[in-house]
Amino acid sequence: MHVFLETERLTLRRFTEADLDNLVALDADPEVMRYLTGGVPTPPEVIATRTLPRMLDYHRRFDNHGYWAAIDTSSGQFLGWFELRPGDDGRTDELELGYRLRRAAWGRGYATEGSRALLRRAFTELDAQRVYAQTMTVNVRSRRVMEKAGLTLVRTFHRDWPDPIDGAEHGEVEYALHRADWLRRDPQPGSAG
Ligand SMILES: CC(C)(COP(=O)(O)OP(=O)(O)OC[C@H]1O[C@@H](n2cnc3c(N)ncnc32)[C@H](O)[C@@H]1OP(=O)(O)O)[C@@H](O)C(=O)NCCC(=O)NCCS
Repeated sequence: MHVFLETERLTLRRFTEADLDNLVALDADPEVMRYLTGGVPTPPEVIATRTLPRMLDYHRRFDNHGYWAAIDTSSGQFLGWFELRPGDDGRTDELELGYRLRRAAWGRGYATEGSRALLRRAFTELDAQRVYAQTMTVNVRSRRVMEKAGLTLVRTFHRDWPDPIDGAEHGEVEYALHRADWLRRDPQPGSAG
C-alpha cells in the first residue's frame, strides 16, 4: 500500500486497479451524485475505462498531485476519495482540492479532516501558493467543508452546461486559501492537520 498521508482517523493512499468496485459503489449512490450529475450514477464501464485509469495515470505522472483513496484507518473501510491537483492550466503553484465520500461516512468531519491535512501538505511540502475548490452554489455541505478548512468565498460564476442539473441556475462557487493566509492562521509546523 502506497500511503500519501495519514490524519488522526484517515489514511490517504494511492488508488490501484483493485479499487474498481469501491469507485463503482461510491458513484452508484444518487445522493453522492446529486450535485455532480443530478443523482445519476456513473456507469461502471465509465469508471473502468475513464475514471480509474485517469486516477492511476496521475500516480504515474506525479508523486504529490492527484486523487487518493480515503480509508478509515481503524476499520480499513474505503470511505471515498480526496483530490489535490493542478487545474487545467497545469500550474502546480495553484492546486484544486476536492472530495467525494460514501454517504455512510458523512457528517463525521472526515471531509474537513482530510482537507485540512491536504492544505498542510500543499503549503508546507509542495510549492502551492493558492489552493481552491469549486462546487455548485447549492451544495451547502461541500461549502461548509471548504469554510471549516479555512477557504473563503472568492466568486460565484455560471457555466454553460449542455444539460443543466437542478440547482445549476444558482451557479457555481469558488473558495480559496493563499499560502500566506494559511501560514498566518496555522503557524505551528508539524502540528496535526
Ligand atoms: C461534501 C462531502 C464530502 C462532505 O463530507 P462530510 O464528511 O460529511 O463533511 P464534514 O462532516 O467534514 O462537514 C460537513 C458539514 O456540513 C454540514 N452540513 C451537513 N448537511 C448540511 C445541510 N444540509 N445544510 C447545511 N450544512 C450541512 C455539517 O453539519 C458539517 O458542518 P458542521 O461540522 O459545522 O456541523 C460529502 O457530503 C460528499 O461526499 N458529498 C457528495 C460529493 C460531493 O458533493 N462532493 C463535493 C463536490 S465539489
